[in-house]
Order: sequence, then C-alpha cells, then structure tokens
Amino acid sequence: MKRRPLLAGNWKMHTTVLDACHLAADIAKSCSGLGDRDVLLAPPFTVLNQVAHMLAESGIYLAAQNVCWEAQGAFTGEISPLMVLDAGGVAAIVGHSERRQIFHEDDVLINKRVRGALAFGLMPIFCVGETLDEREAGETFTVVERQIRAGLAGVVPGDMEHVILAYEPVWAIGTGKTASKEQAQEVHAFIRNLIVKMYEKNIADQIRILYGGSVKPDNIDALMAQEDIDGALVGGAALDVESFGRIIHFQEI
Ligand code: PGA
Repeated sequence: MKRRPLLAGNWKMHTTVLDACHLAADIAKSCSGLGDRDVLLAPPFTVLNQVAHMLAESGIYLAAQNVCWEAQGAFTGEISPLMVLDAGGVAAIVGHSERRQIFHEDDVLINKRVRGALAFGLMPIFCVGETLDEREAGETFTVVERQIRAGLAGVVPGDMEHVILAYEPVWAIGTGKTASKEQAQEVHAFIRNLIVKMYEKNIADQIRILYGGSVKPDNIDALMAQEDIDGALVGGAALDVESFGRIIHFQEI
C-alpha cells in the first residue's frame, strides 16, 4: 500500500525576508497543478508569516523548524505552537539531528515537543536517525527504536494520524552521502514494523515516513520507488527552485 507522497523542504538557517518570499513564490509556481502529492516548506521562524502569505491558495503546507510545548511563558528563544499556528503553520519539525547534535536536545525533551505540537493541533515531523559511529557499530536499529519509543511516549493511537516520521541518518545530512535506496528502505520498513508493534497495523499502514539526508534531483526517483518511503525531507536542495522543483516532480523508477 502506498501513501500520499510528501515532499518537504527544510530551509534551516537560511533566507532573509526577501529571499524567502522569492523562493516561496517560485516553488508555488513550480507546484501548480500537482494534485497527487503534498508539498511542505519549513522556513526560519522570522519569515513564517511572510511565506504563509506567498503560499496562500497554493496548497503548500507551512511548518516551523522546531516548537515548544507551552502556549506562552518564560521560554527565551523558543516558539510556541500557538505562534506557529498564528503565523500560518500547520506542522513543526521536531528532533532534527542538528537539534540533537548541536543543541543537545535529548529524547525526553523531544517527546515533550512532539506531544506539545499534537496538543495544539500541529503535525510533528518527528525525525530520527543514527550517527556514522552507531551505524558502523551495528546499532542502527537499536538507536532508531530507542528514539521512536521515547519520542512517541504518551502519544495515543488517535493522535498518530497527525504524526509524520522522518528517517534521517546523521551521516547523510548535508554530506552529499545519501543512504542507498536499499539502506533507506530497510530502516523505513523496520520503523513501520515498530509502529505495528507499538500501535496497530492500520496506523502503521497510514503513517508517512519521509527519508532525509542529501536528497537530490538525481536520487529522489529511486528513493520514492521504495515501498516504505513516502516522501523526503530535503535540506540543501530545497533552497534552489530548480532542484526542489525536480524533487517535487519525482517519478518513481
Ligand atoms: P540535506 O538536509 O538534504 O542538506 O542533507 C536534510 C535535513 O537535514 O533535513
């Protein structure tokens, strides 16, 4: 069973207001007429609202790159789910490897973010993935299972239809090294099976699992042809309309 594909662009810490508006408008143009897949953009917080305006009527979804679990309060440097909604967002990336590695966000904190997003009606795009050392030590499945079990702790079955998962091997992010389609499919299938064990088959069949890590125009088609790969979370190549346009228009091979 194939799920509706989702192509997501994570702009990370790039773009001024002007850059973001141009890029969003160009991407919206390149998406017009695409009825069989979803597209989502995750720009920096500072441009969320402007990008929302540029995307109006385009059908493209908007996400924040992170989100707090509280509606408001003394949380310097954070963004609340209500602020994301207010700016026009419908989703938030949570647990990205850059948050885990550079800012030391751990599984417990990430679980609070996942549950916080859901509590306020945002879809978490919950990222997991192993480092190169972990892969070489044969720990890929153990690490991914730990991250998923911890990140989804307390998430009830009824909320799972709003959760999007992303498998992003840390060694493939921004390095130009993509996991081969076989390596990616193997972990995606493992994750889907884990969701069967934690929840039920129906939920596992419906949930979208994105692949992220050096997704480019020349590898998207083969990745998307894999049974358990339902979309992509794209970093570098999402900042260029030609590359991202080609990724959006993937054709399974
Ligand atoms: P990349 O980033 O496509 O530049 O490897 C992916 C991501 O971090 O989501």
